[in-house]
Amino acid sequence: MKVSVLGATGTMGGLVIKALLQEGGFAITGKVSSRDNIEVMFGCSDVIIDFSCPFATEAMLRYAVSSRSHIPIVIGTTGLSKMHRDLMGECATYSPVFCSPNMSLLVSALNVTVHLLAKIMDEDFDIEIFESHHRMKKDAPSGTALMLGRTIAKARNREFDDVANFVRYGIIEQRKRGEIGFSVQRSGAVVGTHEVSFVGGHESIKIRHEAHSKEIFAKGAVQVAKWLVRQNNGLYSMDDMVRDTIAPLIDGWSRECFGSSDHKH
Ligand SMILES: NC(=O)c1ccc[n+]([C@@H]2O[C@H](COP(=O)([O-])OP(=O)(O)OC[C@H]3O[C@@H](n4cnc5c(N)ncnc54)[C@H](OP(=O)(O)O)[C@@H]3O)[C@@H](O)[C@H]2O)c1
Repeated sequence: MKVSVLGATGTMGGLVIKALLQEGGFAITGKVSSRDNIEVMFGCSDVIIDFSCPFATEAMLRYAVSSRSHIPIVIGTTGLSKMHRDLMGECATYSPVFCSPNMSLLVSALNVTVHLLAKIMDEDFDIEIFESHHRMKKDAPSGTALMLGRTIAKARNREFDDVANFVRYGIIEQRKRGEIGFSVQRSGAVVGTHEVSFVGGHESIKIRHEAHSKEIFAKGAVQVAKWLVRQNNGLYSMDDMVRDTIAPLIDGWSRECFGSSDHKH
């Protein structure tokens, strides 16, 4: 499969190239950075993987839309706006487009688990999301922390904006029932830690993912690329890939633990 990497000279681009070579079965036909013409990728690829910056992602999407490109695109770049999402939507009428701020498959598993726990535990359980990243990270809370919060709000049938609390300083009142609290740490070279706590009056559960290396995101993006080329045109996220990969495992687990409901009747 022919792959082009947008952001090839960057940290993530380099790791994606390494992961593609390790995986095998890929020819890297385009390595694009700020010095190159983005259009060249569209003439020589079966799939494009983008880990660059919002400006470059926009340029790529605009070209894809204007040329009605059919080439699947995997977008890992973060800090994207509604304008980018609208462009992705347009692009997705011609090709499969995948976008996720976190390409780690284990973070997807965390997201699924958090959804399940939020369904099991009612609002007597206070939910707090903590994330920690390296000192260079500019946005906060991380896209992944926000994703986890949105998952929880959805599981509890609440509007995320109504229940998310990002700031406690200066607010002199008790914690609101159903609130999802966020806290953030920026220090050192931490690759990325996310922890979700469900704390009740008498018991609690904490679930935590620690990324030890950025390689997990690159390897995840390669798995996504392999999956995306088999999909129809449309806009995809990790949830869609999870439906194909992790959800069947949960189904199997449920049958193994509790047996098929057929036996009970
Ligand atoms: N989704 C995930 O799982 C995940 C994980 C980690 C990081 N990320 C995101 O991935 C992105 C890249 O991260 P990074 O750490 O690799 O950044 P980086 O080291 O700064 O690399 C950025 C890359 O983008 C290129 N670029 C910048 N402006 C461009 C332009 N106008 N046209 C074409 N290429 C351009 C740079 O080329 P030059 O060398 O020529 O400047 C470089 O190759 C960030 O948005 C980051 O937040 C996502």
